[in-house]
Amino acid sequence: MSHSPNTVASEAFLRALPKAELHLHIEGSLEPELMFKLAERNNIQLPYANIEEVKKAYDFHNLQSFLDIYYQCADVLRSEQDFYDLTWTYLLHCQADGVVHTEPFFDPQTHTQRGIEMGIVINGITKALKDGHEKLGISSKLILCFLRHLSEDDAIECLEQAKPYLHHITAVGLDSSELGHPPEKFERVFKMAKDLGLKAVAHAGEEGPPEYIYQALDIIHVDRIDHGVRCSEDETLMQRLAASQMPLTVCPLSNVRLKVYDHMSEHNILKLLEFGLNVTVNSDDPSFFGGYLLENFTALSEHLKMSEAQAAQLARNSINSSFLTAEEKQALLAKA
Ligand code: HPA
Ligand code: ZN
Repeated sequence: MSHSPNTVASEAFLRALPKAELHLHIEGSLEPELMFKLAERNNIQLPYANIEEVKKAYDFHNLQSFLDIYYQCADVLRSEQDFYDLTWTYLLHCQADGVVHTEPFFDPQTHTQRGIEMGIVINGITKALKDGHEKLGISSKLILCFLRHLSEDDAIECLEQAKPYLHHITAVGLDSSELGHPPEKFERVFKMAKDLGLKAVAHAGEEGPPEYIYQALDIIHVDRIDHGVRCSEDETLMQRLAASQMPLTVCPLSNVRLKVYDHMSEHNILKLLEFGLNVTVNSDDPSFFGGYLLENFTALSEHLKMSEAQAAQLARNSINSSFLTAEEKQALLAKA
């Protein structure tokens, strides 16, 4: 696809770009409509009377105010079919947006703590991912995230419970409340995961300081940094990230909704790109933050005047930063 350095990227241009999504919490794609359907299916009383009330509750002032509601909503997910429906609905959005490859996160502890078995969660998600590949042509890898507000022993127990399903899992990640829970808290469990052949990613530098990004790199040895936008406060770190081409999975709409930035026009993603960092665009928790991948891209065109050339670079970065093989990446890049 030819692209111009000066033309602002249109929605049609952005949809046609082959894109990978590398930062997506599958529980964060639970739309209010499906939440009500699952609540009825499972005989659960929701604290909301209707969809309008749910949407009104999605008025967040920081990460924690979002997480409190996000964990509450996940309670409707009970059976393998529920996890299948959740994942399949997300994959239909991928198809609509021109996402050709996706690497979703899931939070097993959110479910096992409620008595839902690991196998129910993983089988439901992976059956939908398999259908996504066969019926929609969307490839995928699955990432198991540890909840950082819980203890490292809890994360080790979670990894233990996942052992029968490791053939379905490509990487481990680290999410939930960042401040006060630095990557170093999880040094042992990330070492165990690496020894099992898993890759590693971690949320760092969303609300947390640049120091957490250094820890993610040097103590838990991640292959990608999730968010990472606060790296711009540390010039040495910026240089290092640029030199290593460490991927940053940036989530523009999420950052504005959680008040990391007051307005999209203040977002630093294109400054990071122009500095030479390997940044990508992602939707994080699209049902809660007002948009799937394409809407994250179009917001950058609208508020930051992202050019076609910048958009094409961001899309290439996403495919190159995935956990696909070199041959698989080449095949997807050739579609551009
Ligand atoms: N940050 C941290 N944890 C999360 C997020 C996020 O944006 N979304 C879901 N869990
Ligand atoms: Zn996230």
